[in-house]
Amino acid sequence: MNKNKVLVTGGAGYIGSHACVELLQAGYQVAVVDNLANSKLESLSRVQQITGKSLSFYQADIRDKQALTDIFATESPSTVIHFAGLKAVGESCEQPLTYYRNNVYGTLILVEVMAEANVKQLVFSSSATVYGQSSCNQYTEDFPLGAINPYGRSKTMIEDILRDLSAADKINQTEFPWKIALLRYFNPIGAHESGMIGEDPNGIPNNLMPYVAQVAIGRLAQLSVYGDDYPTRDGTGIRDYIHVVDLVKGHIKAIEAFNSQKFEGGACKAYNLGAGKGYSVLEIINTFEKVTGRSVNYKISPRRAGDLAECFANPELALKELDWKVEKNLEDMVADTWNWQNKNPDGYI
Ligand code: NAD
Ligand code: WQD
Repeated sequence: MNKNKVLVTGGAGYIGSHACVELLQAGYQVAVVDNLANSKLESLSRVQQITGKSLSFYQADIRDKQALTDIFATESPSTVIHFAGLKAVGESCEQPLTYYRNNVYGTLILVEVMAEANVKQLVFSSSATVYGQSSCNQYTEDFPLGAINPYGRSKTMIEDILRDLSAADKINQTEFPWKIALLRYFNPIGAHESGMIGEDPNGIPNNLMPYVAQVAIGRLAQLSVYGDDYPTRDGTGIRDYIHVVDLVKGHIKAIEAFNSQKFEGGACKAYNLGAGKGYSVLEIINTFEKVTGRSVNYKISPRRAGDLAECFANPELALKELDWKVEKNLEDMVADTWNWQNKNPDGYI
């Protein structure tokens, strides 16, 4: 087993490609498995340009057990960061089975192959979506779970599976127990400061920041602000936006923690990755206009079904146990989003 090698599933995607940059720059060797269902190989070519380092790439589906088994045999990683998954909430409501098969079944195959290869360090991309809706706006990790859509439930199911897997180690007194970090992301935005990699959504974006950026560059005509009658400071929804580079640094901190006392004897632990404070939709638009000098054409529209008024992380556990906190502010997030959008108006082509 190569202690320095990390296998990254979904590494060609938005967050995965940024993780590859940070891993390579931190001295890790990287192997990526991605079926390119929602990404382009160009992202990994840019990762190699940014870092001046190379990585291995396998175009494979994580549900293909034989392919994964062969990749583990060739690469001998010590750790897996598991980003591969489908992530569109609306689509998950229309096609729940597709989401459960891809996300839940895909993860089952992955951990089976990991167990067979005796690779038992796993960082998993979970989401703030796993938390139940309530009057509480700021979530700690022990807050009751209760996702409200199939995408969110797929993440909750995976968390359950991984917790069960770790608990079984105690019963079986396993010699090499699982070390698993469930990282619950809040709202990742931004791009690498080079502007060479960033978020490249297929079709019309669902999420606020890529939508704002595409309006500002002229690809989309107008942003709809979903509701200005929420009980928030300006009536629009408040979220905890986190720079994607800060987010991926949290993954490296989790890998480092696997070697510390925190994970001695094995554990499966959840950590919020967020800034711990929120911004409203109007604050995002205003900051975008201020930082970029572009105006963002918008109109107030009805609320979007399923949206909360306000949601942000309590990130204290990640600070205490992973020594991680965000370093970048909203201006950085906006400037880096714009730099990426400006340099790549049509995304990766
Ligand atoms: P993304 O779509 O850009 O990246 C996911 C990657 O996984 C893509 O490259 C896709 O081709 C690949 N993939 C999907 N299914 C696969 C499969 N069966 N086999 C192999 N590869 C597969 O998404 P992202 O924004 O980079 O998100 C990464 C992870 O983080 C996802 O699991 C997502 O659910 C989670 N997450 C994202 C956000 C967000 O707002 N972006 C928030 C919370 C959690
Ligand atoms: C942010 C705010 C909208 C678009 C989603 C997923 C979640 C997670 C991250 C993966 C809200 C408002 C948005 C627009 C708007 N993904 N908005 N006009 O809804 O917090 O989270 O992405 O795990 O699962 O649900 O993020 O960026 O869609 O919305 O007014 O065109 O912007 O109402 O207040 P959200 P978002």
